[in-house]
Amino acid sequence: MSTYAQQKDEDRKVTTHRLLEMKQRGEKISMLTAYDYTSATILDGAGIDVLLVGDSASNVMAGNITTLPITLDQMIYHGKSVMKAVKRALVVVDMPFGTYQGNALEAVASAIRIMKESHADCLKMEGGAEIKESVRRILSAGIPIMGHLGLTPQSINKFGTYTVRAKEEAEANKLIEDAHILEELGCFALVLEKIPAKLAAQVASELTIPVIGIGAGGGVDGQVLVMHDMLGLTQGFSPRFLRRYANLQEVITKACKEYINDVKSRDFPNDKEQY
Ligand code: KIV
Repeated sequence: MSTYAQQKDEDRKVTTHRLLEMKQRGEKISMLTAYDYTSATILDGAGIDVLLVGDSASNVMAGNITTLPITLDQMIYHGKSVMKAVKRALVVVDMPFGTYQGNALEAVASAIRIMKESHADCLKMEGGAEIKESVRRILSAGIPIMGHLGLTPQSINKFGTYTVRAKEEAEANKLIEDAHILEELGCFALVLEKIPAKLAAQVASELTIPVIGIGAGGGVDGQVLVMHDMLGLTQGFSPRFLRRYANLQEVITKACKEYINDVKSRDFPNDKEQY
């Protein structure tokens, strides 16, 4: 293949099928969260493979303690904003808590609303065997699903803590079983959150679909981080798995202080900055 053809290939829209091909050829998948037009434009332009409109928007955008309060309408709003920006990345929208756990019909109605109104490419759902019927029903409507196992923040009130999951054999076995169930149902990928690296690597090697980890070690097929965390916008959150690539909190505070100072001292606006 010529360099030109390769470049064209890289520019092509990422699809669920392309993620599978990436796993097959051993190319790692990069994924970050995005909730708004401006940051999605930047991340897509940088070449990210997958953008997750995560329900972590509940925490980082709305200031809630958990992901539970975010609504279907709010997820659609964030999804729509991201979709307007994206040219290349695959866009996954989280199904919010309470919109798919009740029954399969309610689940498919919620899923269809997100797809119709946000124009997202696919959806992500937390859980294994217990949400099987909802997953099946949504897949049968032609909507691709990414699974999510391990630490599933929508179940925080059941877990009671955000510590590493599946360290004990029984929970690890259930996770492996759930991963196979999700693959057999037809999910196109799986997120594994905060579980031992060895267990995550085992799941990734047993499944044919891509497994994307957050706090799940390097033996999986790709990595996801919350954009606000990796850019250092959030404060007071530093789990072992989080690598910070910037300290934007510092950068923004400094810029903001300079602006305040310039306004107060009448330095801004100067003669050239007015009409
Ligand atoms: O909502 C989110 O940001 C997520 C990631 C942590 C995977 O689900």
